[in-house]
Formats: sequence, structure tokens, C-alpha cells
Amino acid sequence: MASGQQAFLIITILIIGPISNVFAQSIFQIYPENLISDDRKALADDDGLFCDSWRLSVETNNAGVWYTIPTRCISQVQDYMTGDKYRSDSKVVAGDSLAFAKTVEIAGDGLDAWVFDIDETLLTNLPYYADNGFGSESFNETAFDEWVDLAEAPALPSSLSLYKELQQLGFKIVLLTGRGEYQRNTTEKNLLFAGYSNWERLFLRGASDQGKPAIVYKSEKRSELINEGYTIHGSSGDQWSDLLGFALAQRSFKLPNPMYYIP
Ligand SMILES: *[C@@H]1O[C@H](CO)[C@@H](O)[C@H](O)[C@H]1NC(C)=O
Ligand SMILES: *[C@@H]1O[C@H](CO)[C@@H](O)[C@H](O)[C@H]1NC(C)=O
Ligand SMILES: [Mg+2]
Repeated sequence: MASGQQAFLIITILIIGPISNVFAQSIFQIYPENLISDDRKALADDDGLFCDSWRLSVETNNAGVWYTIPTRCISQVQDYMTGDKYRSDSKVVAGDSLAFAKTVEIAGDGLDAWVFDIDETLLTNLPYYADNGFGSESFNETAFDEWVDLAEAPALPSSLSLYKELQQLGFKIVLLTGRGEYQRNTTEKNLLFAGYSNWERLFLRGASDQGKPAIVYKSEKRSELINEGYTIHGSSGDQWSDLLGFALAQRSFKLPNPMYYIP
């Protein structure tokens, strides 16, 4: 670029910059090399880049049903789950949930409900998944049930704070989990151990719920609540099947989980 043009550009930025930041930024952002080169091979070969994009795809449900994490993404998922990113993402979700909760007009009739999923929502099974490949191995129900029976899954800290703040605001907390009725005692014990208390209701899969996709089972339970007169203001879950279907909450909040998918 000739120095005259450069001077003109700088003067232009100086004048327009304060008026329009967007315009000033666009001068630099429209022309980065990597946007015009479109080196598809380089994009596909970069595991870090690919796994970030893969994670966006599963979190937004663009990926649909998937079974295990790609082998090339194991270390990336491990870093995500054990580092600051998972905590930060979860915290932002809790903050958004609370901001919405504060706008809700509580009727105060004891029927203002907030529905929480349990696994990877209130409790984190990270100790189990750290020992089992972070979602790279196919699900072993026997081994997972043994872990559940220990009743020592820790709370996801941002969810525990949200839970308590919602109670302060006057919401009734309803827990809706895919765990079985046979796990009620150990689930209650684990919730108390992790710091949760005073929930209104705990739904687990009973005999008639066995074999139903989670999205159907959970919709049916929300439907029961609505028929009892509850208003479901908010719903929090790490699976889209916690949040979609029918009898939906007014607002739904998706927590991150790149380790497994439940339809
Ligand atoms: C599942 O876990 C159980 C209990 O830990 C173990 O005995 C069994 O071999 C595992 N099954 C598979 C297929 O890995
Ligand atoms: C669950 O706990 C209750 C009371 O604490 C007890 O009576 C019941 O037998 C327990 N059920 C199982 C399956 O352990
Ligand atoms: Mg869950």
C-alpha cells in the first residue's frame, strides 16, 4: 500500500473510528488471509479446530443422535471437562437462567415450578467419566449403576447456586431424571450429600416409563405437573431431550455436555 493511501486510511479510521467502531473493525476483518484462502484440508486436519466445531454441533443439536465422541477429540473433551471452560460455560448458563428467573412474576400459590434434570445438570459424574474415557467408550449400565450407588457425585457448583437462588425467589423445584425408581434412595442421598435440599418432587422412571425415549418420558412428567396446576417457568438440562418434546417450560436452559447424548 502506498504511503499516501496508508495515511488516508489512518486518517479515515481516526475520524470514523469513534463514530463507528463496527466500520473501523470491518476494515481489518474482511481481509484476513485465512478467510479468503479456504484451505479445507488444513481445517479438516486440525484436531483442535475440528473438535471445537464438533462440540458446537453437538451442543446445538445439529449433530442429532450420536453415540461416542470421535477418537480424535478425546483429549480435547478431557481438557474441556476438567479445565476452566466447562465451569465457565456452566456458570454463564446459570447466570442467564437466574436473569430470566428474576423477571418471572411469582404467583405465590406454591405452583411456580422450575424443573431440573439431575445427571450433568445438578450433579456431575465427571469422576466416573474420567475413569471411562470421557464418553469415548460405549455406555456400560452396570458400571455406571455401581458409580451411582456410591452416591458421591459432586454438585456442579453453578447449578447448586442457581438452585438455592431459585428457592429464595419462591420457585418450587421439581427434579426429573432418567434414573430408575430403584435408584431413588441413593439419588436422594447423593443430592443431600452434594448440598441440595427441599425439592418439591423427584420423578424417576417407574415401571411404566421403562423403554420410553427420554424426550417422551420427560414430556409426560411435565404434562402431569401442568395438569396438577403447576406453571413450569424454567427447565434446566444437559440434554435436548430434557428440554424438547411437549409440555415445555416457558424458558429452557441447555447445560453443556460433550460426553454423551440421550435421545
Ligand atoms: C461393564 O462393567 C462391569 C462392572 O464394572 C464389568 O464387569 C463389565 O465387564 C463391563 N462390560 C463391558 C462390556 O465392558
Ligand atoms: C429406601 O429407604 C427407605 C427409608 O429410608 C427404606 O424403607 C427402603 O427400604 C429403602 N429402599 C431401598 C430399595 O433400599
Ligand atoms: Mg442429564
